[in-house]
Amino acid sequence: MSLLELSGVTRSVVLPDDRTLEILRGIDLTVDAGEHVSIVGRSGTGKSTLLNILGLLDAPTSGEYVLDGVPIGRLSGRARARRRGTDFGFVFQQFNLLQGRTALENVVAPLLYARGRQFWQRRTLAAEMLERVGLGDRLDTRPEKLSGGEQQRVAIARALVRVPRVILADEPTGALDVDTGSEVMDLLDTIARENGSALIAITHDLAVASRAARQFRLAEGVLTPIAISARSAGSLGALGAPGGQPSGPGADPGAAGHPAESGDDQAEHVARPLVPAHGAAPGEGDAA
Ligand SMILES: Nc1ncnc2c1ncn2[C@@H]1O[C@H](COP(=O)(O)OP(=O)(O)O)[C@@H](O)[C@H]1O
Ligand SMILES: [Mg+2]
Repeated sequence: MSLLELSGVTRSVVLPDDRTLEILRGIDLTVDAGEHVSIVGRSGTGKSTLLNILGLLDAPTSGEYVLDGVPIGRLSGRARARRRGTDFGFVFQQFNLLQGRTALENVVAPLLYARGRQFWQRRTLAAEMLERVGLGDRLDTRPEKLSGGEQQRVAIARALVRVPRVILADEPTGALDVDTGSEVMDLLDTIARENGSALIAITHDLAVASRAARQFRLAEGVLTPIAISARSAGSLGALGAPGGQPSGPGADPGAAGHPAESGDDQAEHVARPLVPAHGAAPGEGDAA
């Protein structure tokens, strides 16, 4: 049984002029325990809306979401809130840390809603988690005194301290420079793996997306499996020109290997539909 299963999930909103905006149009997605999945897409295609539904922050307009065998539509508001706290850890582009509180207090915060050992030993658990993200010597530092990469590491510690089954990361490297973003993703991948948490990462960055075992593109509310090769994701030549060659005299050598700066258009070139050779999507690899 899959950990998460979305079938035919739609989300629409009624705009002030009474038009209906269909943000998600029939999403099918299954994610197994411990699996790493990435979703790429242009701005405004519904990525955050999808992540909010997955994390029980929002509900589908139609379709079904089954979490660990339980159709979430049948849960009470209170039960959904409890599962949100126990099953999910969130990492956001803008870190969303509590300013004016120390790193330790930020990581302790989710444990205030926990029970048993997680509650009683919250300061020890939070300190251990900050140690794991390399911030053992910054427990008493406030976020505004930390660099962006360090703040995101605090946010990762906060997301993981309750050992969630799923980490939902919405553009986790979007506010970081390329090297820092890469370090942060290494950390997120590693700790998720050690904890056995599934990781669903939304990103513009093909290098980030290519780390995941399965990759999808969200376009106009429709989710499609794709394959991004790590090689094409890592070189601007491939990003700038579909043929994999540098884009001529206009090519910016300074941007090589910085796919985060290359925007969505290149994603369209490199992120091609899944081909059977990659065998990444169950059921699609049998065709050849
Ligand atoms: N509650 C809402 N009311 C009206 N429009 C919304 C609402 N939520 C999202 N949208 C619109 O739906 C589209 C998708 O939003 P979002 O999921 O944030 O996209 P992404 O994260 O891919 O940039 C955007 O055009 C956004 O303005
Ligand atoms: Mg978004």
